[in-house]
Amino acid sequence: DSIKVFAPGTVANVACGFDVIGLALNAPGDEMIVKRSDTPGIRISAIHGADLPLDPAKNVAGVAIQALLQKYEATKVGFDVEIFKNIHPGSGIGSSAASSAGAVVAVNQLLGEPFTRKQLVRFAMEGERLASGAAHADNVAPAILGGFTLVRSYRPLDITTIHTPKDLWVTVIHPQIEVKTSDAREILKQKILMTDAIKQWGNVAALVAGLYQENYDLISRSLEDVIVEPIRSILIPAFHELKLKCKEAGALGGGISGSGPSVFMLSQGEENARKVAATMNDVYAPLGVDYKIYVSQIN
Ligand code: HSE
Repeated sequence: DSIKVFAPGTVANVACGFDVIGLALNAPGDEMIVKRSDTPGIRISAIHGADLPLDPAKNVAGVAIQALLQKYEATKVGFDVEIFKNIHPGSGIGSSAASSAGAVVAVNQLLGEPFTRKQLVRFAMEGERLASGAAHADNVAPAILGGFTLVRSYRPLDITTIHTPKDLWVTVIHPQIEVKTSDAREILKQKILMTDAIKQWGNVAALVAGLYQENYDLISRSLEDVIVEPIRSILIPAFHELKLKCKEAGALGGGISGSGPSVFMLSQGEENARKVAATMNDVYAPLGVDYKIYVSQIN
């Protein structure tokens, strides 16, 4: 019994929705092969493309599967996991989430689907806890459920999917510098101003309305983050220039992907998304920082 799954990269926060909104990309994504065995235990047999721990207690996929098995309560079952990483760890496009999500989706299939997709989100969050110290769900939820997702509440966990306009595309640039999610969370303020909060929840609500109405102007106006971006953007080379030039090139808007250093831009249509990719390239080529650019639909 063996299964191969595709685990998509994800963009968390989507500007205004810190820790609550996320979306799933077509590319990049990881692949995982999971085999069911009668020998109890979780074994990570190999990880290709990244230097990550094989010890299942220190690997997000191992920890996520363990969380699932604790609820499944079967004794004579084990799993061998092989991971092909295309999403760079520390990129801000949900690398740890892809491994956690892919692992629990694969194991659930091999067990005959005892859990719903929404239930799997909670197990995958344990992988996120290991990776960043915070069991945030805004990467694992879209990785498992697809499209746009919204975390209404963490306690109790209440997650819902959001309508994804067909013609909405994402362009992501990944500067090859590492920003640890735990560090990028530590620098945030614990208290915010009421005036900022009002702007932020106005934008979150309008983004959701814009997605349902397929109203690209409203989506564009809503892609604003007055709370997290002003602090984290200092970690990203040429962030403000990048954002400005991409909007001039036709992007609806964007921001930091997850906790960075990747930056995402949303566009209406593939042609605009490719123009934005070319603009990102123009801004980054002279900087002397290595980078990768991805153009993707959301699903
Ligand atoms: N919402 C999380 C954060 C996502 O911004 O810290 C991390 O990828």
